[in-house]
Amino acid sequence: MSKEKKGVRLEHISKIYKDPKTGKDFYAVKDANIEIEPGSFVTLLGPSGCGKTTTLRMIAGFESPDEGEIYLGNEPINALTPNKRDTAMVFQSYALLPHYNIFDNVAYGLKLRKMDKETIRKKVTDILGLVGLEGMENRMTNQLSGGQQQRVALARALVIEPGVLLFDEPLSNLDAKLRVSMRTEIRRIQQEAGITAIYVTHDQSEAMAISDKVIIMKGGLVEQISTPQEAYYYPNNKFVADFIGEANFLKAIVKSQDIVEINGEEVKCSTGSLGNGAECSIVLRPEGATLGDNGSIMGEVEYSCFMGAYQDYHIKIGDELVKIQEYNPKNKKIYGVGDKVYLNFEENTLYAL
Ligand SMILES: Nc1ncnc2c1ncn2[C@@H]1O[C@H](COP(=O)(O)OP(=O)(O)OP(=O)(O)O)[C@@H](O)[C@H]1O
Ligand SMILES: [Mg+2]
Repeated sequence: MSKEKKGVRLEHISKIYKDPKTGKDFYAVKDANIEIEPGSFVTLLGPSGCGKTTTLRMIAGFESPDEGEIYLGNEPINALTPNKRDTAMVFQSYALLPHYNIFDNVAYGLKLRKMDKETIRKKVTDILGLVGLEGMENRMTNQLSGGQQQRVALARALVIEPGVLLFDEPLSNLDAKLRVSMRTEIRRIQQEAGITAIYVTHDQSEAMAISDKVIIMKGGLVEQISTPQEAYYYPNNKFVADFIGEANFLKAIVKSQDIVEINGEEVKCSTGSLGNGAECSIVLRPEGATLGDNGSIMGEVEYSCFMGAYQDYHIKIGDELVKIQEYNPKNKKIYGVGDKVYLNFEENTLYAL
């Protein structure tokens, strides 16, 4: 596709709905400021009801914001109807035309745009090749597997060459294995087509696997916009830390710029702008510590379970329970319930909040 890639910018965007139970207004999305670079793959991620679909539908034009302005490239688009925006949406339900074959489903948007037959044939054939459905033009869509239907839906959105492609949980009807292979496909196709993509999911591993940036939302608010790595290693708050991967939070007191005290023991940890004596939470990922017969912080094993790739432990430290995963357990000492152990932290794995 030869079209110019477009970025998307949300400036102070809010959407107010009426709660059907209480009849009171509430912010489904509140003061969202989001900048999406042209050609990037960005995921809106967060628990059910946090405002992901509402945000996406405002970009598509199916909902209008109550506050703020949305830009596509440099153009403000609040006043434009969905078909006047340079966007295309792939729905969770695929929304295919059931009595049409694959070709006609994909060609539909081009026919609406009154393109000539030969151009349509060429564009549809090219796109079907891109999504791996070449030669299947004449199959009816109700004779397709879920994964194939998903590809048709994707082809139908891509063929009109939108500046921005929008996805709302496009893989949620597929089984776990197919989800993983289709998400890799979607990423490949997005990169080959060089298109800007905004993708909604509540599955954090899906988001991490495909995104240049993740936008993590909670209760209508944007909590963090960053690369998946930054969100994992440097979460803005406990919610983000807990939502992206697994996290332990250890109570600690700041001793100096790179020392904290956890359960009476001093441990190396960068404390950023936190002042000496401040109480804080240390984020420890389950793979961020190893166990040994000696080390920095002592605990007692409460649970120990072989999981194949790792040994899964719950370690009691003071009054806190800490989850640790020790990878490649075949080559490690295995501790049992009731054993005393010491935690040793790998360099730079602790993060103070
Ligand atoms: N048309 C509407 N009228 C009133 N409230 C609505 C409407 N649409 C959505 N909501 C509410 O707005 C909030 C955000 O909804 P939204 O659909 O954006 O959530 P979501 O993050 O996509 O969740 P999910 O993961 O379950 O799809 C929810 O509390 C929802 O109940
Ligand atoms: Mg939704």
